[in-house]
Amino acid sequence: MIYNIGLCQFRPTLLKKQKNLDTMWKMVEGIKADLIVFPELSTSGYVFNSRDEVFSIADDFEKSDTTAMFLELSKENDTSYVIGFPEKSDNFLYNSCMLINPDGSKYLYRKTHLFNEEKQWFEPGNLGFVVAKGKKEVNIGLMICFDWMFPESARTLMLKGATIIAHPSALVLPWCQQAMLTRSLENRIFSITANRIGTEINGEKEFLFTGMSQAVSPLGEILFRLEKDDEKVQIVEIDTDKANEKNPTPFNNIITDRKPEYYI
Ligand code: ACM
Repeated sequence: MIYNIGLCQFRPTLLKKQKNLDTMWKMVEGIKADLIVFPELSTSGYVFNSRDEVFSIADDFEKSDTTAMFLELSKENDTSYVIGFPEKSDNFLYNSCMLINPDGSKYLYRKTHLFNEEKQWFEPGNLGFVVAKGKKEVNIGLMICFDWMFPESARTLMLKGATIIAHPSALVLPWCQQAMLTRSLENRIFSITANRIGTEINGEKEFLFTGMSQAVSPLGEILFRLEKDDEKVQIVEIDTDKANEKNPTPFNNIITDRKPEYYI
């Protein structure tokens, strides 16, 4: 099936949710695609100094204005979106992303592998890896940023039937973009890594985010890769059937050739 996938690479402003929501709306306004991915923690920024800061800007997935806005936008543009956001549920905080579809359906994933100081604010995800139906019933696998470091994340999403991995990110280390070529290739799956850009400063802390957001084919080919400081939406047309080709040779199949009894 022909499917238009893409991402929105931008610079969120720390602790300014409404400004970030306005930016995201404007950047994709009028763009019709099948799936567009936004970065990790796009509504809040990333460099926090306290749990209270995170709590002040975190959203309840079921009830928030963020969820409501993307439900409206998804319907208007007939496009599914994946958006990274800080989630509060009861008194707990999660580094989460939501998949929002034009038919009004919505799904949640909570980051499994927390990175660095995130462990001070967030609970590790407790939903496991989520594969959910996007537009046209395509299976979208959800993982967030540092989940890339654990090959089990993408592998689990593939084994659960994902055709495309949507991967909201806020990358500061230099390795992920190249590693995702292998994650796509070894799982014969599309991946969309939507990274943010910019330097973010909070008190003594300063983080530089690496941009270079990309889409990758099941053969590990870069379909597009943005520059380090582009602020833009990029879309590419794919054929989702390519993710069904799990046989690198006539004698090999990446699912049935696995030897899980040796993988401890
Ligand atoms: C990361 O997980 N934000 C590197």
